[in-house]
Amino acid sequence: MPTADTVNTIAVLGAGQMGGGIAQIAATSGIDAICYDVQQASLDKAKALHEKLMARAVEKGRMERGDADSALQRIVYTTNWDDMGEADWVVEAATERADLKHEIFVKLAQTFENPSVVLATNTSSISITQIGASAESGRSGAGERVIGMHFFNPVPVMKLVEVIKGLTTTEDVTQRTIDLAVRMGKDPHAANDRAGFVSNRVLMPMINEAFYAWMEGVSEPEDIDAIMTKGMAHPMGPFRLADFIGLDTCVHIMDVLAEGLNNDRYRACPLLKNLVTAGRLGNKTGRGVFDYAK
Ligand code: CAA
Repeated sequence: MPTADTVNTIAVLGAGQMGGGIAQIAATSGIDAICYDVQQASLDKAKALHEKLMARAVEKGRMERGDADSALQRIVYTTNWDDMGEADWVVEAATERADLKHEIFVKLAQTFENPSVVLATNTSSISITQIGASAESGRSGAGERVIGMHFFNPVPVMKLVEVIKGLTTTEDVTQRTIDLAVRMGKDPHAANDRAGFVSNRVLMPMINEAFYAWMEGVSEPEDIDAIMTKGMAHPMGPFRLADFIGLDTCVHIMDVLAEGLNNDRYRACPLLKNLVTAGRLGNKTGRGVFDYAK
């Protein structure tokens, strides 16, 4: 089996905030990246951000201009699925919908016949075992090479990769994923395949509780955020972070926790749900808990 050192090309499915970041750190670690998305506009946006962030890294003296240029040249942007065919590792970072992941992993298993190609997913909440079963239905044995490789936003800055082993994932695939995360400059930590893994099982109830505290009039968002940043040394308070993650994503993850852990204490706070219903999704819509138009 090839090792993490021999990975030459990573295909990243989905050029959103997470996928774009993963492609970027692959390229800066000396690995070719194929950035695939169904929408050209998403690819254009990812490319512009890559150029901006690399220019900033050079300006700040964190990177030589030549290295930044080489990294940029290592990224290919495409809307053509078949262009991913040469990759020896896949990280899926598409929209967080179980039906979509099913479709993608059936197709990935059919496209990547070589059993050494790892089919990783950046899902933050969907069961790895379930995604493994989707791959298995596309090709017998493919479930063994499905693994969770959960990056954190902003990917170039956050050190953690949560590595989640599904029921059918092999030890070899797990070890190679850990090694690859290290090669990409990250600190991997393992978690088992239970709803929310570790990160969101601990983070999301804290965010949800902040919404309850606000709803019950314990304090206002600015003060709750200040208490958590100044008292707990969190870089962002729970509301700023919820806006950054996306309030719809927070509700979705709470639903996954309530369902997967079969416990109503994980139900999303009504106030959080109301903001989503009103279209206040956070940074991405310009308004969530806070107003970013100001
Ligand atoms: N991409 C790349 N680099 C970025 C960036 C981005 N989107 N945003 C900020 N940075 C860089 C900046 O360039 C800056 O680096 P330099 O100073 O060297 O240029 C550095 O990060 C710090 O940025 P700022 O000075 O602008 O702002 P800051 O000090 O407030 O840091 C932050 C910003 C890194 C986002 C910080 O607030 C933070 O760590 N917040 C918490 C983020 C977090 O918890 N993320 C996890 C979310 S949960 C998740 O992703 C998974 C899930 O399943 C929901």
